[in-house]
Amino acid sequence: MSQINPVTDLTLDGDVAVITLNSPPVNALSAAVRQGLFDAFTQANAEAAAKSIVLICDGRTFIAGADITEFGGAMAGASLPQVQEAIEGSSKPVVAAIHGTALGGGLEVALCAHYRVAVPSARLGLPEVNLGLLPGAGGTQRLPRVVGVETALAMMTSGRHVPAKEAKALGLVDELVEEGQLREAALAFARKVVAEGRPLAKIRDQNEKLEAAKGKPEIFAAFRKANARKFRGFLAPEYNIRCIEAAVNLPFEEGLEVERKLFLELMSGSQSAAQRYAFFAERQAQKIPDVADDTPVIPVNKVGIIGAGTMGGGIAMNFANVGIPVVLIEVKQDALDRGLATIRKNYERTASRGGITPEQVEERCALITGSLQMESLSDVDLVIEAVFERMDIKKDIFTKLDAICKPGAILATNTSGLDIDEIAAVTKRPESVIGLHFFSPANVMKLLEIVRADHTSKEVIATSMKLAKKIGKVAVLVGVCPGFVGNRILGQRQREAQKLVMEGAMPWDIDRVLYDFGFPMGPFAMSDLAGLDIGWVKERSKGESIRDVLCEMDRRGQKTGAGYYDYDEARNAKPSPVTEQVIKDFIVKTGANPRDVSDEEILERCIYPMINEGAKILEEGKAIRPSDIDVVWQNGYGWPVYRGGPMWYGDHVGLPKVLAKMQEFHAKMGDQFKPSPLLEKLVAEGKSFKDL
Ligand code: 3HC
Repeated sequence: MSQINPVTDLTLDGDVAVITLNSPPVNALSAAVRQGLFDAFTQANAEAAAKSIVLICDGRTFIAGADITEFGGAMAGASLPQVQEAIEGSSKPVVAAIHGTALGGGLEVALCAHYRVAVPSARLGLPEVNLGLLPGAGGTQRLPRVVGVETALAMMTSGRHVPAKEAKALGLVDELVEEGQLREAALAFARKVVAEGRPLAKIRDQNEKLEAAKGKPEIFAAFRKANARKFRGFLAPEYNIRCIEAAVNLPFEEGLEVERKLFLELMSGSQSAAQRYAFFAERQAQKIPDVADDTPVIPVNKVGIIGAGTMGGGIAMNFANVGIPVVLIEVKQDALDRGLATIRKNYERTASRGGITPEQVEERCALITGSLQMESLSDVDLVIEAVFERMDIKKDIFTKLDAICKPGAILATNTSGLDIDEIAAVTKRPESVIGLHFFSPANVMKLLEIVRADHTSKEVIATSMKLAKKIGKVAVLVGVCPGFVGNRILGQRQREAQKLVMEGAMPWDIDRVLYDFGFPMGPFAMSDLAGLDIGWVKERSKGESIRDVLCEMDRRGQKTGAGYYDYDEARNAKPSPVTEQVIKDFIVKTGANPRDVSDEEILERCIYPMINEGAKILEEGKAIRPSDIDVVWQNGYGWPVYRGGPMWYGDHVGLPKVLAKMQEFHAKMGDQFKPSPLLEKLVAEGKSFKDL
């Protein structure tokens, strides 16, 4: 037998036809793969010597899904349903042999095979929801027939990649086979199926697992209610749920029709476009134009962290989670003890929820040791300084690090906006200095801004990017400027939110508009959560801002039961008449003229200056590309993924509209709104950020 096409091979191994896909990087179902599969299955069925068929993939993974790059274009070659029909309708048993990941369309193909075997390291899932989609190749109808309705709901609305062992327990995988022995084991399994005369099991005909949910709409209602907060604003989770309802209530073919209709609706909508953009943006951000993929990396086998506060402790956990030992430095024993105790408490909380085992708690805590001596950092490969945001303190620490750390060690600062070149200048090795800006809580938040200073070496950048991936962060390389990319843009929104209050909008009006836009919370609710007194000094407070007045009244946020909002015992927020009065009095005192501020103005005043600032950041070369800015905002600041990010949103609204508003605000309110020359240029040329 033969090569079917450049990505598909069909060979006969005794009485088993083996179809092998080889379409790097992830064997996605491109036109060539689909056509290859279709032809290979047709040929394998016609081959008299073949009694069974094994589908297996070369490279790092089984099929990882439809080819997302083909979405939106014309469909060429065999369609996915045609391929699936060829597999499911095969007259010989088909065994899918899974390694790596069987995701989306990949799992949907495997679900058409009559049997599935997998190595223990494989993972299976339907992650379409994360692309703003639903499984559009029968997955919504087949998965619940295999794993039951409740598991299917959880899997499809989270997109979780289920480990093979769990998949075996769920019935998704028929047999786990030894790592590295997939081909042989799949062939043996196929022969066993033939020898035992096992049936051609078609999932589409298996309805038993659906029975439990028949006539029980309350199962779906309860699932929607329990996840309402998580799904808020997103269309795809709801559409996935509707498809599973259809699987329960309709015959298979009619369920497929519902799936098809809802899939096409999602595919043509703006949410999925934004979410697919986000997928590629995140991967694009890993590519640094002047740092080649093969740039040597510095082995990081031990990490030092200075500061055992919330930030330092959270950062330490990231490394312990992947088995890298950490030494945590503090000045005083009690602060160190507190820091280590908090880390243990955090791990124990995760364990109590089933996230890790009690043994893992001990293993991870054992990897984090404390010290009061900076000299303990002499053998670490990377130090991350996470102390107060004060330049003099940081300079002092870096001077000491320069003397203590071994040559080649990476010296990183977690500053959220200070000048890293100035910090690097106190060392004799500025090439080793970099910014690693984690977001709080650092053990949870996905974003890592990696800040490249003037002299940072390519090795240090490449190492930082790789290390970020290892510890599960989404890294974005940015340049040195006040606030870097994330906080610099946030500054625009914060400033406008404060100004709008002085013009007559109430904090809860502003929060509501931004919450409805899709942010998890608005700036004032956020302040209450964080504590209004961060950076506030009682002795120096003279009622010079609304915040000062609120803090002076001991309205310091959620922790004191009141801040901008009033809180009940369960920390539910209510607009506060006290705050409203404070604001009104303050406005009178400052002689401002309050007016009615519309929701539209709130949104435009808060968001458009962010887009404009993003354009300035690009102009100055502080971000490599517009999509990097969007990755920062999605992963660090709660920008709703279904709205892409500030730059994507700007393109979507239309840059001429954004520019016109900035010009209007500039004329009325001054230079804070001065349009960026890049924004003006793009509009003049009829272009958008995506053209850059
Ligand atoms: N289509 C096209 N390209 C894809 C792809 C896909 N489904 N999945 C991954 N790629 C590309 C990536 O863009 C990347 O390209 P690059 O090297 O040029 O940047 C390359 O493959 C490697 O990807 P990663 O960097 O993400 O590699 P990892 O090893 O970290 O992760 C993975 C591998 C887990 C497979 C991850 O890529 C992934 O989650 N992919 C998407 C899976 C998915 O969402 N599948 C569903 C698709 S929609 C669908 O199937 C619809 C159907 O129901 C009809």
